[in-house]
Amino acid sequence: MTQVLEQIAEVAGYLWQQGWGERNGGNLTVNLTGFFTTDVSKGEPHPLGVTLPHIAGQYFYVKGTQKRMRDLARKPMENGCIIRITDDGTAYRPVDDFVPPTSELPSHLMVQDYLRQCGSRYTATLHTHPIELVALSHHRDLLDDTERPNRLTRTLWSMIPETLAFAPLGIGIVPYEVPGSVELAEATLKKIRDYDVVLWEKHGVFAVGQDIMDAFDQVDVLNKAARIYLDALTYTAAHPDSQPEGMTGEAMRDVQRIFRLPKQRPC
Ligand code: 13P
Ligand code: ZN
Repeated sequence: MTQVLEQIAEVAGYLWQQGWGERNGGNLTVNLTGFFTTDVSKGEPHPLGVTLPHIAGQYFYVKGTQKRMRDLARKPMENGCIIRITDDGTAYRPVDDFVPPTSELPSHLMVQDYLRQCGSRYTATLHTHPIELVALSHHRDLLDDTERPNRLTRTLWSMIPETLAFAPLGIGIVPYEVPGSVELAEATLKKIRDYDVVLWEKHGVFAVGQDIMDAFDQVDVLNKAARIYLDALTYTAAHPDSQPEGMTGEAMRDVQRIFRLPKQRPC
């Protein structure tokens, strides 16, 4: 378990370094059930407000609400805690010192419940505030998610070959909802089935991964493409006749062929 906690701390440091974790911004969970054999939780149960039968009895590391990623990077157990979901799936109890969990617990645990329901190998969920992706989420013309791939995904894929290679499911779009709400969690759950990462309009992103580094990489790849797109558009601002070209359809089909896409969905 030490290794998993070290990886969580390492990723928290990257989130801060990237500028995605202002103040307490962002949160994460990682399933630690494999490290426990008996019920070691204690204290009063904290109700979840929903029933999550597939993660009943499971253990998770959860970032604490109002805790900073830059602090978590040094002291994961002071800025988060391990919880066990009760056997009826309606509440949780802490394992050690209680640190009140992130306000985005509904999204994290509802997605974790879905991952267990389908027997996924994915253990980690990540919410963060990547600057360039959030900037693009203010542009209505990029938020239409009716076509597959949607316009934002096509734009990002066309920036560099690696985006399509490592984020072949693309980015889904969740219309604005109140942070921490069950509505946001439900909308996230619907979309995360089909995409590598989902964009929370005017807020941030939510990603899943085999481990927390994998979830971070998914966001990093897509945000890098967003940054390149926005940088190219600054050239357009100075030279209005020159629009970013993007990779051709043929070049993108070549990437798909060479990298043997598409990759496996989480479930
Ligand atoms: P928490 O501090 O509760 O984790 O909230 C941060 C956040 O990013 C909410 O969307
Ligand atoms: Zn947030």
